[in-house]
Amino acid sequence: MAPSPLVRWGSLISAIVAVVLAYSYQQQHPFLFSDVGHALSVYCYSSVRTHDGQQPSADCFSVQDGAFAGVWARDSDQAPLGVKEAHVTVSDGHVIPGLWDGHGHLLQYGEFLHSVDLFGSQSLDEVRHRIKAYLAANPEAGTEKHWLRGVGWDQSAFGRMPTADDIEQDDQLKGIFMMLDRIDVHCAWVSQSVLNLLPDEIPNVPGGEIIRDPGPGVFCDNAMDMIMDLWPKPGAQQKTQAVLSAMRELNKVGLVGMHDAGVTAENARLYSELASSSPDWTVRVYGMLECAKRNTFCPEDAPVMSHQDAKFTLRSVKLFADGALGSWGSAMLEPYTDHPWTSGSLLINASALTQVTKSWASKGFQVNIHAIGDLANRNAIDAFQAALEQQCGRDGDHHHLAECQSRHRFRIEHSQIIHPDDQKRIHAMGIIPSIQPTHATSDMKYAEQRLGPERTRSEAYRMKSLLDTNPVLGSDFPVEPPNPFQGIYAAVTRKSPHTGLGPDPETPSKGWHTEEALSLDEALLGFTRNVAYGAFLEHSAGIIRRGSFADWVVLDEPLEDMNVEKIRTLKVRETWVGGRRVYSRDEEA
Ligand SMILES: *[C@@H]1O[C@H](CO)[C@@H](O)[C@H](O)[C@H]1NC(C)=O
Ligand SMILES: [Zn+2]
Repeated sequence: MAPSPLVRWGSLISAIVAVVLAYSYQQQHPFLFSDVGHALSVYCYSSVRTHDGQQPSADCFSVQDGAFAGVWARDSDQAPLGVKEAHVTVSDGHVIPGLWDGHGHLLQYGEFLHSVDLFGSQSLDEVRHRIKAYLAANPEAGTEKHWLRGVGWDQSAFGRMPTADDIEQDDQLKGIFMMLDRIDVHCAWVSQSVLNLLPDEIPNVPGGEIIRDPGPGVFCDNAMDMIMDLWPKPGAQQKTQAVLSAMRELNKVGLVGMHDAGVTAENARLYSELASSSPDWTVRVYGMLECAKRNTFCPEDAPVMSHQDAKFTLRSVKLFADGALGSWGSAMLEPYTDHPWTSGSLLINASALTQVTKSWASKGFQVNIHAIGDLANRNAIDAFQAALEQQCGRDGDHHHLAECQSRHRFRIEHSQIIHPDDQKRIHAMGIIPSIQPTHATSDMKYAEQRLGPERTRSEAYRMKSLLDTNPVLGSDFPVEPPNPFQGIYAAVTRKSPHTGLGPDPETPSKGWHTEEALSLDEALLGFTRNVAYGAFLEHSAGIIRRGSFADWVVLDEPLEDMNVEKIRTLKVRETWVGGRRVYSRDEEA
């Protein structure tokens, strides 16, 4: 016989009451539920830096189901009841929240780890030498099916652009298939065997450059596409190996999450599969979709993906306004000081950029535009303003747009050279700059030549003066090493983390335009709280607080007590993601 409706409602209500009571009890005493299969672990350290305004420091925390269940000071009465019964790990380490890189390239970094490292090569001879050493260790590379890849060369070390002939003339390298990316990944240098796959007459490409002097072999920006089309793409297995190698390296330097600044739809599907199946997926990834055809609207390719615990999320898109400063490719309002016949070039004109930005915004996507030069930054800001007006109405002031922006969180990737008028607009609308502090210290050698003193002083590589808009900090790995402590050092000192020196050999201990330097706290927040905010994750990442992801890093000393010169070579002791230790320096040795 069916129970009467009243009885059914009664039992339903009492069931709800029981769940609510149990839930609120668990909120106060989370550990008590450890014996029902979700073990609670307690960790106590010498100090815990939380980034939680309510409780900036602590000594202990508990972890359950991959999240922090409680955070407290050792001798306080906040220590939850029953902690003594829980499994407690005590360590003399010092904890900071898990670090995030706000702009990197996961797969490319993995491929870099499996390719020739050309960073810092000082001559063509040295490049050839490194290629030969790589081939000796990886004899399968260099064939038509498996090209030799590398990254990190810089023609300024050679005195001229490299050519295919520079490889072909070497008896040991003759005939290899090879593609080597420039240090900024905006040009590719290929061998004669690759040139032979192209038509005899290679037409010029809009938004790209084919270098012909002193000889063929280098293709830049949009001209790289014709090479990429020929390159035999790695299969899913090779990509998986690359991505997981990358994650291991990222964990080693204290990274628990990263924003991938360009994920194809195909790679997004692979990431999504790995994020849900592989135990070695140990970095949370926030992806920016890159359409098969650059700077287009491809919503049909864009599965909006969101995994449990943000292991992989895709709700943003990457667009490219211009190229890089190193190769005079960034689009400037005025000509370059050292190349007065050019002011760089846009990869997309202003009206088309606005159109594609508005299209993505209307689909609910966060739009992240690569912009280096001051013209590219102006166009990006114009595009964002138009998209915000489309989404939230025109009849409003900047405050109204800022409120709209807090929901859309449009970002400028790199935001390197910005006219003072446009810096004001960034402040007014709250546009998020995504900044790589090590780009400033790598470019300080030549930026002033390109820009002249006035533009350098008032426009270039801002950090401090953009602080109110929550700048997201990152490295752009593999363009720069992913180590966030090098980024923190560069942000705080404006000196090279590789040498500890500033740009002027006369006064090497002086940083570059230190009026734009950040404090240690500001830099650390740039690699935690701000990166989380830039990915809509401020409630769960970059902070040690009940309910956020149990991601943390253990250091030997408290960061704030450390001599700043030690930060650039700091080695983390342990990295934890989701309550699981993913890196331990002791076990590595
Ligand atoms: C901008 O680019 C679009 C697409 O390439 C083109 O159709 C349009 O004519 C261009 N507009 C201007 C003002 O150059
Ligand atoms: Zn990048």
